[in-house]
Amino acid sequence: MVNTLGVFLVLLNILGVFTYYPDGSSDGKFLYGKFPDDFIWSSATSSYQIEGAWDVDGKGESIWDRFVHTSGKVYNNDTGDVACESYYNYKTDVQLLKELGVSHYRFSVSWPRVLPNGTINDINEKGITYYNNLIDELLANDIKPMLTLYHWDLPQKLEDHGGWLNETTNDHFNDYARLCFQRFGDRVSLWITFNEPWIIVRHGYGYGIFAPGYSDAPGTKTYIAGHNLLKAHAKAWHTYDDEFRATQKGTIGITLNTGWSEPRNASIPSDVEAAERAMQFDFGWFAHPIYYGDYPDVMKWQVGNKSEAQNLTESRLPKFTPAEIESIKGTSDFMGLNFYGAGLTFNDDNNPVGPPGYDNDKATAGAIDPAWPVSGSDWLKVTPFGMRSVLNWIYTTYPNPPIYVTENGVSDRPSSKENGISDEARTFYYRHYIDEMLKAIKLDGVNVVGYTAWSLMDNFEWASGYRERFGLHWVDYDSPNKTRTAKDSAKAYSKIIADNGFIDEPVSTTPVSGVASTTVSLFGIGLTILFFTLQLFRMTR
Ligand SMILES: *[C@@H]1O[C@H](CO)[C@@H](O)[C@H](O)[C@H]1NC(C)=O
Ligand SMILES: *[C@@H]1O[C@H](CO)[C@@H](O)[C@H](O)[C@H]1NC(C)=O
Ligand SMILES: *[C@@H]1O[C@H](CO)[C@@H](O)[C@H](O)[C@H]1NC(C)=O
Ligand SMILES: *[C@@H]1O[C@H](CO)[C@@H](O)[C@H](O)[C@H]1NC(C)=O
Ligand SMILES: *[C@@H]1O[C@H](CO)[C@@H](O)[C@H](O)[C@H]1NC(C)=O
Ligand SMILES: *[C@@H]1O[C@H](CO)[C@@H](O)[C@H](O)[C@H]1NC(C)=O
Ligand SMILES: *[C@@H]1O[C@H](CO)[C@@H](O)[C@H](O)[C@H]1NC(C)=O
Repeated sequence: MVNTLGVFLVLLNILGVFTYYPDGSSDGKFLYGKFPDDFIWSSATSSYQIEGAWDVDGKGESIWDRFVHTSGKVYNNDTGDVACESYYNYKTDVQLLKELGVSHYRFSVSWPRVLPNGTINDINEKGITYYNNLIDELLANDIKPMLTLYHWDLPQKLEDHGGWLNETTNDHFNDYARLCFQRFGDRVSLWITFNEPWIIVRHGYGYGIFAPGYSDAPGTKTYIAGHNLLKAHAKAWHTYDDEFRATQKGTIGITLNTGWSEPRNASIPSDVEAAERAMQFDFGWFAHPIYYGDYPDVMKWQVGNKSEAQNLTESRLPKFTPAEIESIKGTSDFMGLNFYGAGLTFNDDNNPVGPPGYDNDKATAGAIDPAWPVSGSDWLKVTPFGMRSVLNWIYTTYPNPPIYVTENGVSDRPSSKENGISDEARTFYYRHYIDEMLKAIKLDGVNVVGYTAWSLMDNFEWASGYRERFGLHWVDYDSPNKTRTAKDSAKAYSKIIADNGFIDEPVSTTPVSGVASTTVSLFGIGLTILFFTLQLFRMTR
């Protein structure tokens, strides 16, 4: 009996399935300790969200410029036309980073700022100069650049020819990537090809809620765009590998986002299966080809069976040729992970045939535990345990890649600057998510090599406009210089960086602000009891 339970617990650990406790942690304890000496601390932004100067100095139009100016789909019709004006304020940004104490800064290059028409036929030297200045300013302040090539701002000129639905865009992306390696690679040694392909294709080519705004053939365009993104990623990786790695000695990878899908009830097999299927659809869609050459089987089967039921002659999920499989396999020197929160997942196949679409193919549904603290974004609940779970899942599902957490953070919607700066909820979030990451490293052996806080400052939060603030720094959008002010969380993050972890001192583990923190889920209690029973069995053995 004891052994069976012991094995069960070990299995749960191996599978990366951890229960959660009322404080949102995976084991009810706060772990004190230090990160490895060479652990990388960073903070992030992206070009469209902060730069402003959308049509200045020869910059071309991007699909986000077009989307915000015409779609009517952004909260309050906000745009990134001005944003934080980092195009002018980049030196201030670097000082914020220096005060945080980070060793790295993750930013993105705007493709149409350097190639206004998308192709290398027209290079905008003023755009190149802007990024050269930013990179030099970072290095002068001892901060290393972590450069994302594509954070969603495709040149509109390429969109006019079909964008990511047209395979020639892959070649244009490869040309653009090569140009960046040539012009910036003497000083940049950490490269990310794409940020969050899942969001790009699900939101942009399925629901139409993000640029370029397609919603007409969600079960088809979504997968075609995803297919092209994977091939474009592989092309750029090989270009770096073949032409630049030997001299520039850098590394290049991709950043994928996922939530953590916790089975709604771990004793219901269909919930467990659905949660794993959700992880494969959300993360495996892009990670599986990169590590194993092709889409996950469950995804091929689901889309294949649904397509058949829809009387289509072939699956809506495109197929890679054997040559493509070979060229995609192994094209990430590290795994970039953007993680924000967990959900409770269960099986949902109420509409076996349609309407066709990624979510219908996935056939899962999500719930939340009302005990989870909320944030300024509907999709984001404060669930620190998910960080440890997702890191363990990646560790066991793929061949133990080095992982950079390339984004993690939380939003709020403060009513005033004063409230915005006193952001205890954000401090709570960072401390506890980072602590769960520490557990994944120290207790579970996951190879996490760096952490990036999203975001350095408040900025344009896509379809949510400026309403949801994710910054460590408050941005005063009405001031002429878009003044940045450190929030309390910036100081807390700085201290974690300075200590390289958590030194032994008392810390509150009670979730703060507007939270039903006393409601404990039955599920949580059940597993807690199971856990303590186990401990008892072990002790009395
Ligand atoms: C946003 O713009 C659309 C037109 O694109 C207009 O119909 C709508 O009223 C505007 N909404 C707000 C909140 O200004
Ligand atoms: C972009 O292409 C158009 C022709 O399609 C050309 O007139 C224009 O000069 C190009 N832009 C730049 C910045 O080279
Ligand atoms: C794809 O893009 C190329 C230019 O890169 C263009 O010549 C071609 O017509 C496009 N194809 C479609 C179907 O739009
Ligand atoms: C349907 O799913 C089963 C597994 O459940 C799989 O063996 C089969 O190949 C799938 N069919 C198609 C057309 O993908
Ligand atoms: C597929 O074809 C069958 C047989 O003709 C038909 O009964 C069924 O309604 C069709 N399904 C869809 C989704 O069109
Ligand atoms: C804004 O920035 C400019 C240039 O850096 C500077 O001269 C000016 O004093 C700043 N204004 C304010 C209000 O901070
Ligand atoms: C989980 O499922 C089991 C088996 O169906 C059931 O006995 C138990 O009550 C469920 N737990 C919760 C918290 O719903």
